[in-house]
Amino acid sequence: MYNVYEIRKDFPVLSELVNNKPNVFLDSAASAQKPLPVLNRMQEIYNHHYANVHRGIYHLSEDITASYEEAREIVKNFINAASSDEVIFTRNATESINLVAATWGRKFLRAGDEVLISQAEHHANLVPWQMLRDEIGISLKVFPIADDGSYLEEEYLKYLTPRTKLVAVTGMSNVLGTIFPLKKMAKQAHQNGALFLVDACQYIVHNKTDVQDIDCDFLAFSGHKTYGPTGIGVLYGKYKILDSMPPYQTGGDMVDTVTYEKTTFMPSPARFEAGTPAIVQAIGLGEALKYMKNLGMENIKAHEDELVSYAKSKWENVKGLTLVGTAPDKGGVFSFVVDGIHPSDLAFVLDKEGISVRTGHHCAEPLVHRMGYETVARASFGLYTTREDIDALLPAIRKAQKMFL
Ligand code: ALA
Repeated sequence: MYNVYEIRKDFPVLSELVNNKPNVFLDSAASAQKPLPVLNRMQEIYNHHYANVHRGIYHLSEDITASYEEAREIVKNFINAASSDEVIFTRNATESINLVAATWGRKFLRAGDEVLISQAEHHANLVPWQMLRDEIGISLKVFPIADDGSYLEEEYLKYLTPRTKLVAVTGMSNVLGTIFPLKKMAKQAHQNGALFLVDACQYIVHNKTDVQDIDCDFLAFSGHKTYGPTGIGVLYGKYKILDSMPPYQTGGDMVDTVTYEKTTFMPSPARFEAGTPAIVQAIGLGEALKYMKNLGMENIKAHEDELVSYAKSKWENVKGLTLVGTAPDKGGVFSFVVDGIHPSDLAFVLDKEGISVRTGHHCAEPLVHRMGYETVARASFGLYTTREDIDALLPAIRKAQKMFL
């Protein structure tokens, strides 16, 4: 039984007041709140178990190394990777994708090769490929989505060409909520001879993620959106591919032997984790994934799907309110505009009502432009979101309309 009100007790900030109003936190897509088990575990590590990892032959170091590697194992199990050597800790999904572009991309792509992305990409899955285009002359292709934000299979297939070497797509749009059919897309990419990379930043928070079932070659996500700390993210890669890639950054902990003449490198994951890693953050991420797993990804998804239907029933067909992104297969991310009110002005009024929404282009400027806007407001859900949170939005919008119109 999924009791959202009990679950909310694990997130103290949610029962505090914001601007003297109940906290209606509708910005989990930007960064999620952290449950007490994550915060307690991190505090406990700092208080009682802290040392560097992989370097000390003494109890504390060996102890924390075991916890750090256990976190890697938790990630491995959470995404069903074949081996924990396929799990690389990075700073965030942005760094994970940059790592692929800088190592795999520079080594294996040549002028004229194509990288295919969708129109729904976050800057993190667009700009690294642009940089590579400018550096080595690859082509960056962008396949269109529908006006309602839906995925268009015929467009995807049209853009897959024999020159496509990599398809890099979001699993779930951070602006539109659209969920992409990753398994089918991966199969089609592979049939075409291309690798398949998933930006799973939003997808993994709301959907059970199985990299072997999707059969993706790379998958990136950030810890802070999965109820874990900032400063930690993951790059999953199939081992054979990771093994063929050069290091991203170099330094300590990733080398095998070093002389003044020559350096040899460790295999994955160490090869891609130069320097002291974000130790406690990785352990916090492991705890966050455990928290989600204990609740059950199916239960989280069912709860959020119910909220999505409820939000649609409340927010569709409201005069003056336009939802941006209404694909049938959609998760808990609702961008919207209110006639005659700039999203920033709207957010200001909502904030006074205790409601946190994000406004702007959401690090997906070309996408927001493609949908016909310069800037939009966005309400996004987490595992702790309630119907009451959704109910709070419209009356606050009405207040803004009274002020501005
Ligand atoms: N990418 C995050 C968002 O969508 C920050 O808000």
